Amino acid sequence: MERRPRVKPVDAPCLPVPVRSRPPGPAMPLSRRAFLATATAAASLPLTERLHALRLARPVAAGGAAPSRPCVVASDNGLRGVRRAYDLLVRGDDTLDAAIAGVNIQELDPEDQSVGLGGLPNAEGVVQLDASCMHGPTRRAGAVACLEDIATPSLVAKAVMDYTDHVMLVGRDAKRFALQMGFREQPLLTEKSRQDWLRWRARLNPSDFWLDHDEDVEIRSTTGTINMNAVNAAGDLSSVTTTSGMAYKIPGRVGDSPIVGAGQYCDNTVGAAGSTGRGEANIKVCGGFLTVEFMRQGLAPRQAALRTLERMLAMTEARLLDAKGRPRFDIQVYALNKAGEHGAASMYEGSQYAVCDAGGARLEPCAFLFRRSEYPAGPVPVQRARGR
Ligand code: GLY
Repeated sequence: MERRPRVKPVDAPCLPVPVRSRPPGPAMPLSRRAFLATATAAASLPLTERLHALRLARPVAAGGAAPSRPCVVASDNGLRGVRRAYDLLVRGDDTLDAAIAGVNIQELDPEDQSVGLGGLPNAEGVVQLDASCMHGPTRRAGAVACLEDIATPSLVAKAVMDYTDHVMLVGRDAKRFALQMGFREQPLLTEKSRQDWLRWRARLNPSDFWLDHDEDVEIRSTTGTINMNAVNAAGDLSSVTTTSGMAYKIPGRVGDSPIVGAGQYCDNTVGAAGSTGRGEANIKVCGGFLTVEFMRQGLAPRQAALRTLERMLAMTEARLLDAKGRPRFDIQVYALNKAGEHGAASMYEGSQYAVCDAGGARLEPCAFLFRRSEYPAGPVPVQRARGR
């Protein structure tokens, strides 16, 4: 991945700096001295105000790729998917059909432990899936939550959209609906994910009656998800997000992915956006909707994604922040506008996103609010959760 210039002033948050897809045109006319003066002054402000001040001071152009349609944008696990979706768009397929065909690759891949078949289970060892989608041209949406035994919740969400007057079905009734629609029931817990769950359970409580594993194994955990957004040559848009949710979650927990307006959102006149990572942070700011609204106000996709992350940070409860106001979680926002410009941002440095346009399928770096080295040490203090 491309290295970023280190322009960070002492103790100030990191600056999102240009990604490879910097647009044509002159950079903002701001001297290095003026920039550093602004950054130093900003360092004395509260964190969110610092971020705002630094974002305004950033000596780079507003960000986002040169427009190109068709274009498909996804979380980094969607690299194969954006290629498939793009090919379908080129041959004239519908934008939502294309995006769903893209995420189906991960849903049906037993090696991907964050989505569909092979997803890590809840605390009881049951794989529960969430998904939602929006179809720009018809302004329709569909969603399912806590769906069990069906590998492609994205397609069930679309079936809710296509065949009912509702937007969301949940739990065993979502499964009954899926079976009635002809979806195939199958076990989703792979041996690999079952073993990970057993290890997690054995390590959970030192005073329970499960024996710890002798070997020093890493307990795999994920809030992984796949979000995909597509625009075709005519400028029609769609979006979809699908996930097995937070690994080892409390049974019944529903994240942001099936919440229309949080996990994904699409407005055919503006653009589409979605998120991966800690869903609890995204739900509180309706991140998909908010990002599209920022684009409606004129922000480039990458700037819109950064603004949404700032709002998430401002809405984060104290127990999830360290003494310097840095969050103990990561989360990503992906955005695509009607013109085919795209961008993405992550709370912490190091994330990438997948994109496919006339330039081919590739990973691009996400902008970010904090350097990876700033990630707070130590576990999330869950025991202090109540009342904070
Ligand atoms: N973003 C996925 C989840 O939190 O479930």
